[in-house]
Amino acid sequence: MSGNVSAEKELQALVVYESMFGCTEQVARAVAEGLRIEGVAVTLTDVRDAAPADESEFDLLVVGAPTHAFSLSRPSTRADAVRQGAEPEVATTGVREWLAAMGAASGAPDRLAAVFDTRVTKVRRLPKAAGTRAAHVLTRHGYDLVSRPTPFLVEDLKGPLVTGELHHAVTWGRVVALAARQRLHPTPAPVR
Ligand SMILES: Cc1cc2nc3c(=O)[nH]c(=O)nc-3n(C[C@H](O)[C@H](O)[C@H](O)COP(=O)(O)O)c2cc1C
Repeated sequence: MSGNVSAEKELQALVVYESMFGCTEQVARAVAEGLRIEGVAVTLTDVRDAAPADESEFDLLVVGAPTHAFSLSRPSTRADAVRQGAEPEVATTGVREWLAAMGAASGAPDRLAAVFDTRVTKVRRLPKAAGTRAAHVLTRHGYDLVSRPTPFLVEDLKGPLVTGELHHAVTWGRVVALAARQRLHPTPAPVR
């Protein structure tokens, strides 16, 4: 299964991440590795350098962000992160702003998405977190989510990631790649 895209067009993924202390970036890199293992062509970019989604070529958008105050970061929470030691240049913009710049039908037609966040809380199905917020915005813009918003845990505000989370991120990247490919090229049901 790995790396075999056979006659199908190679899937193109854009992975966009925001990171104040480097944890979400590490997860994004591991997710990109998982996608590549499954034969996906990946562009990985910090949200500060990301072109607008509407001007970018991809089949699958993967968005990752740290949870700040139960949601995506805002200028005020990023300023807070800087007061806690983050570099000021990482706080200039975030995933919330990048998503807000999307056109109303950015996801149409056939654009897939998957979302992850990092957080300290161990509550897996937190109703309010960066991932749930990003998933809500993407769905509103017509994206088809191939996975539930997925959390990766950090031990404390500045990290490090909990042991095993990078391995989990590679695996999640592989699962997302397979789900995206299945969505774009559904396997016909067996003839009975
Ligand atoms: C201002 C601020 C607010 C935060 N709020 C939350 C929160 O509501 N829930 C949570 O689990 N973690 C919260 N955190 C911890 C972040 O999720 C953690 O810093 C982040 O996952 C680290 O990722 P990064 O290194 O990529 O920035 C907060 C952190 C900051 C700086």
